[in-house]
Amino acid sequence: MSADITSLQKETRKFKPSAAFAKQAHIQSPAEYQKLYRESIHSPRSFWPRMAKELAWFKPWKRLHEWEEPFAKWFIGGQLNVSYNCLDRHLTGSRRNKAAIVWEGEPAGPGKPGEERVLTYTDLHREVCLFANVLKRNGIVKGDRIIIYMPLVPEAAIAMLACARIGATHSVVFGGFSAQALIDRIHDCGAKMVITADGGYRRGSVIPLKKNVDEALKQCAGVKRVIVLRRANNDIHIEEGRDVWWHRELEYVTADCPAEHLDSEHPLYILYTSGSTGKPKGVLHTTAGYLLGAYLTTKYVFDLKEEDTFWCTADIGWVTGHSYTVYGALANGATTVLYEGAPNWPEPDRFWRIIDKYKVTIFYTAPTAIRAFMRWGDDWVTKHDLSSLRLLGSVGEPINPEAWMWYYNVIGKKRCPIVDTWWQTETGSILITTLPGAMSTKPGSAGLPFFGVDPVVVNKEGKELPANVGGYLIIRKPWPSIMRTIYGDPERFKRQYFSEIPHVYFTGDGCRRDKDGYFWIVGRIDDVLNVAGHRIGTAEVESAIVSHPKVAEAAVVGRPDSLKGQALVAFVTPKQGTVVTPELKEELRSHIGVQIGSIAKPDDIRFTDALPKTRSGKIMRRLLKEIAAGGDVKGDTTTLEDLNVLAKLRADED
Ligand code: PRX
Repeated sequence: MSADITSLQKETRKFKPSAAFAKQAHIQSPAEYQKLYRESIHSPRSFWPRMAKELAWFKPWKRLHEWEEPFAKWFIGGQLNVSYNCLDRHLTGSRRNKAAIVWEGEPAGPGKPGEERVLTYTDLHREVCLFANVLKRNGIVKGDRIIIYMPLVPEAAIAMLACARIGATHSVVFGGFSAQALIDRIHDCGAKMVITADGGYRRGSVIPLKKNVDEALKQCAGVKRVIVLRRANNDIHIEEGRDVWWHRELEYVTADCPAEHLDSEHPLYILYTSGSTGKPKGVLHTTAGYLLGAYLTTKYVFDLKEEDTFWCTADIGWVTGHSYTVYGALANGATTVLYEGAPNWPEPDRFWRIIDKYKVTIFYTAPTAIRAFMRWGDDWVTKHDLSSLRLLGSVGEPINPEAWMWYYNVIGKKRCPIVDTWWQTETGSILITTLPGAMSTKPGSAGLPFFGVDPVVVNKEGKELPANVGGYLIIRKPWPSIMRTIYGDPERFKRQYFSEIPHVYFTGDGCRRDKDGYFWIVGRIDDVLNVAGHRIGTAEVESAIVSHPKVAEAAVVGRPDSLKGQALVAFVTPKQGTVVTPELKEELRSHIGVQIGSIAKPDDIRFTDALPKTRSGKIMRRLLKEIAAGGDVKGDTTTLEDLNVLAKLRADED
């Protein structure tokens, strides 16, 4: 963990919401926010029961929360169901025929629209009930774990909600991950079933999802059933006795499937995310607290209203897709947009077309995408009518003020407030942000804490730091949607999040707080990188590289990248006798693709005879980072074992 966190930003601009926006907002002034915030921190017993009443409960909870460090429980003794909250309760009133999911498939070609599907709340409820019965018919019972490995089609959300309906715990694996990544996750969570598709479309080609599943299942005897959605019509193998088609299964079931009454702490999902070791962590979220977090933040941060059309561009393979595309949006009875394809395929205006076509009002995306749009040029934007937009959101990494201004001016036409939302897979829902009608925003700052969240910037000893001094971001006490544990590894959970600084949640982010109390996230302070808004553990990539037979040792570091935020650079020492050829780089890149997935392929691989190490054998990553960034090595090199190594690495660069 690096000790010096310096924040170099000198941004001073402030943007106040317009009077018109504030007037219609759920929270309309700083004073109103402060009042609620103070109540949430100082009188949780009056605040949370009022908020929790907005969910539908089968059985009221008895105790608000319990905190046996590091394990939190919320709404103890209550019973509810996430799928009931997202569906059934909207069927009795005017939402019953409202669009729940508006889906656009990958377009067939330039200028052409994608396939279109709209599912109303009644439709979605029926599909979820049918599929929940399919799960039961295939042997799934409450508590079983199911892997979902699908393209971004409505059935992915249907599968999630069907699991939630019967109390099965889902683990969505992003479609870009490899067979090996699937194996690791299936083993770790002990999944009994995989739900997948024959293939998924990506930039005009077909990703062979089912083939990856077949490959993975050679090593996963615990998976007894695979349900396959027909999507891309590519040729696939069907394993008799194990694989069944989604559409065929529907013929055997009815749409009558009452939602299970589940305990507040019933496990809803496990989502794997990178940490500072080679093994991804299975972040476990449970039912009531998670749902309340997703529900409330969607309502207040996005200032959601009945007539909004909400588009969160994240894939459901990531937590943002879970909390905002699916659970938060549907729990609020909103219309949520899903888009299967890429932002720049077949042309770079795909997002703006979709906003125009469906009259999207709230748009939530990542800085890396915004920087790409900037690069592709304003013309792609200005030819579309974006006047339906009223609010913009950003998530995944600090947004640089230049990108913020472009988003504000070119997309929002200076009319739309921007909410920069800081959170993590582990936090379940947004923890730091501005509320769009109540607060000014400052480009590059996430803002202030959400209700019930008590964040502080501290030094290594856990002492709170004064304004504008960089330190570690910690959260003092648990909030409803905090992860409950690392699945199967409670020790690691404690070690990772509650030991670095005792008794508080350690975020792993560097941060400073300005004199107005706004939080400015600097970035990760551990060996986790944020590449194009996705978390990648350097240790994970290193262990993939060294599993290649020609590699002796590897170190992976990040270097600043104007598009992706950070890019991966790998320093690799080949085994003795290996001839380094240009092909070896490609060989290693594809090896990483097989071990983890394409998102983990380094931008740059450099071969070296030796890595810079301390006398005790620790790789000096700091020096590698400086070399990767192309700058001079300025840091202290007195502990370096072999000074020649640096000279060699630098020479290799030229
Ligand atoms: O470093 C922070 C960064 O993303 C990390 C969490 O990554 P992940 O669990 O993949 O979740 C991403 C989506 C919630 C954080 O530790 N991060 C996320 N949002 C922001 C951010 N950094 C700065 N500003 C943000 N708005």
